[in-house]
Amino acid sequence: MMRYADRRVLVTGATGGLGAEISRRLAEEGARVAVADLAGTSLAELAASLPGAGHLTLELDVSDEDQWRAATARLESEWGGLDVVVNNAAIGSIATVEDEELEKWDQVVAVDQTGVWLGMKHTGPLIERSGGGAIVNVASILGSVGGFGNSIAYHAAKGAVRTMTKNAALHWASRGVRVNSLHPGFIETAQLLERFEGSERHRGMLANTPMGRLGKPAEIAGAVAFLGSDDAGFMTGAEVYADGGWTAR
Ligand SMILES: NC(=O)c1ccc[n+]([C@@H]2O[C@H](COP(=O)([O-])OP(=O)(O)OC[C@H]3O[C@@H](n4cnc5c(N)ncnc54)[C@H](O)[C@@H]3O)[C@@H](O)[C@H]2O)c1
Repeated sequence: MMRYADRRVLVTGATGGLGAEISRRLAEEGARVAVADLAGTSLAELAASLPGAGHLTLELDVSDEDQWRAATARLESEWGGLDVVVNNAAIGSIATVEDEELEKWDQVVAVDQTGVWLGMKHTGPLIERSGGGAIVNVASILGSVGGFGNSIAYHAAKGAVRTMTKNAALHWASRGVRVNSLHPGFIETAQLLERFEGSERHRGMLANTPMGRLGKPAEIAGAVAFLGSDDAGFMTGAEVYADGGWTAR
C-alpha cells in the first residue's frame, strides 16, 4: 500500500518507541516525513534510516509555541505545505492524586496537553492551506479510564487530548482537516520494557489486557497510518482504541 505517495507528514516525539515505528510505517507507504523531537535526540540517525527520500529533521519542543512557529514556517518554505501531522510526543508521571507535585504536573500538562493543542493550532491552518488532510493525536486508554489509580497528571492531559480532538474536529469539519485520537493500550516498546519489565505494573498491564499480551509498536503504527490516510476519509472527531480489549470491559 502506498497511501502516502506525495504526502508530507510531521511526526512529533519521532525518535521514541512508537514515534520511530510510526515514522517508518508512513515512509514505507510513500510519505516524506519530518521527524521532530527534542534537541539531542537521534533525529538524523532516524531520518537516514527511513525508506524513501526527502525526509526532514526538526528540533521541536512541542510545549514551546515559538518552536512550532519556526517548524511550520520551515515546512512551508521547504515542502510548500503539509498534509498530515501525528501529535505523538509525550512524557509520563506515575504519581497519584495525593503524591503528584505541582512542578511535575505542569511539565506533563505542558507537553502532553498544551503540546497537542499547539500542534493543532499551528499545523491545522497549514494543512488547510495545503488542500486538506489529517491530524492524528496519540492519546491513551489512560485518557478515558482510571487505569491503575495513579499517573493523575498523565490521565488529565490524555483526557484533554480526547476532548480537544473532538472540539478541533468540529472546528475544521467542513474545511478538509480531519482530527481523530488514537488510544493505545500498553505497547511493548523497548523503552517501556526497560522501565517496567518484570515489575508489578508490567504484570498488571498483562493481567488487565483481555488479549493477554501487550501491543506491538507496528500495531499502533498501522492504526495511525489508517487514520491519517484517505481510507479514513469520513472519520473525524473519532476516538479509536488499539488496546487488546482493555476498554471493552
Ligand atoms: N508505549 C505505550 O505503551 C503507550 C501507551 C499509550 C499511549 N502511549 C502514547 O504514545 C506516544 C508515544 O509513546 P512512546 O511509548 O513512544 O514514548 P517514548 O517515551 O518512547 O517517546 C516519547 C518521545 O517524545 C519525546 N518528547 C518528550 N518531551 C518532548 C517535548 N517537550 N517535545 C517534543 N518531544 C518530546 C521524547 O524525546 C521521545 O522521543 C505518547 O503520546 C504516549 O503517551 C504510549
